[in-house]
Amino acid sequence: MDMKERLQELAEAAGKRISESEGLEKLNEVRVAYLGKKGELTAILKSMKDVAPEERPKVGQLVNETRSKIEALLDESKQKLEEAAREEKMKQEVIDVTLPAKKAKIGHRHPNTIALEEVERIFIGMGYEVVEGPEVEYADYNFTKLNIPENHPARDEQDTFFINDSILLRSQTSPVQARTMEKGKLPIRMIAPGRVFRSDEVDATHSPSFHQIEGLVIDKNITFADLKGTLQEFAQELFGPETKTKFRPHHFPFTEPSAEVDVSCFKCGGKGCRFCKGSGWIEILGCGMVHPNVLSMCGIDPEEYTGFAFGVGLERIALLKYEIDDMRLLYENDIRFLKQF
Ligand code: DAH
Repeated sequence: MDMKERLQELAEAAGKRISESEGLEKLNEVRVAYLGKKGELTAILKSMKDVAPEERPKVGQLVNETRSKIEALLDESKQKLEEAAREEKMKQEVIDVTLPAKKAKIGHRHPNTIALEEVERIFIGMGYEVVEGPEVEYADYNFTKLNIPENHPARDEQDTFFINDSILLRSQTSPVQARTMEKGKLPIRMIAPGRVFRSDEVDATHSPSFHQIEGLVIDKNITFADLKGTLQEFAQELFGPETKTKFRPHHFPFTEPSAEVDVSCFKCGGKGCRFCKGSGWIEILGCGMVHPNVLSMCGIDPEEYTGFAFGVGLERIALLKYEIDDMRLLYENDIRFLKQF
């Protein structure tokens, strides 16, 4: 067989294999089989030394033509295969714009948030400002300026987390009282909601982190009657117009006199039930007239100004209002629980 025929056959065979290749990978195998280093056409090229010298240019030209032919066929087929693959991919990626959209799940306001907004609404309605203070606080503000000197046993009652000797996680929102008074803008009518910390074990009524709402009023001629009237109004707004309040004498270092406030049980109206443990009353907050020592330490003249303060547990309000019997439920953030309120 002469060279021309051999090359023709080779080109035909290659063409057949190319047209039969079903994927780019197969096509590449064909390319290697003919044009690769050890490919058939390369082998022919190597055997050129057996061709008579005067024939060589002609045969060389034939080999090159064959090579171009095969390459052209390969390219053409490659383009077709690539196009087919692209089309297949497009088909798979088609977006059906008529399908229903994924629903964004909407969360729910936390009972704490609902209760806080209610408390804020009540006090803003009475002309109070809402202020905030830092959760990481100086022991000075958390204790000393609130008339709880170093080594006072009241510090142990509010055992908290110390960052160092003088900085701690606030155990109460009362330090915001001192911060607000120190600013020197009088009169003051503010509430200060926020997170507080105590080194308490978790149980149905305790948590190492919970929330309080502090209240402070400072002006000339503020009396205990103002305190009583304000908290009575607050209790009625929060728990209903039938609500009665009872002020029991108590002790807080930063107020004098101090009291704890009970509200008549809004479940039984004061007759006594399981909810109020038979007493007809439910304790809700601590309060009192701001201690003259606190006023002086915070730069206010106790001869000229007086005031009252109170502190409410936010979780306590939320638990009572929504009749939740375990505080831990408030921290799990299970939407099935939260969305009931
Ligand atoms: N800070 C007190 C506590 O955490 C609560 C409190 C009581 C705040 C009486 C007050 C107050 O402002 O007058 O137990």
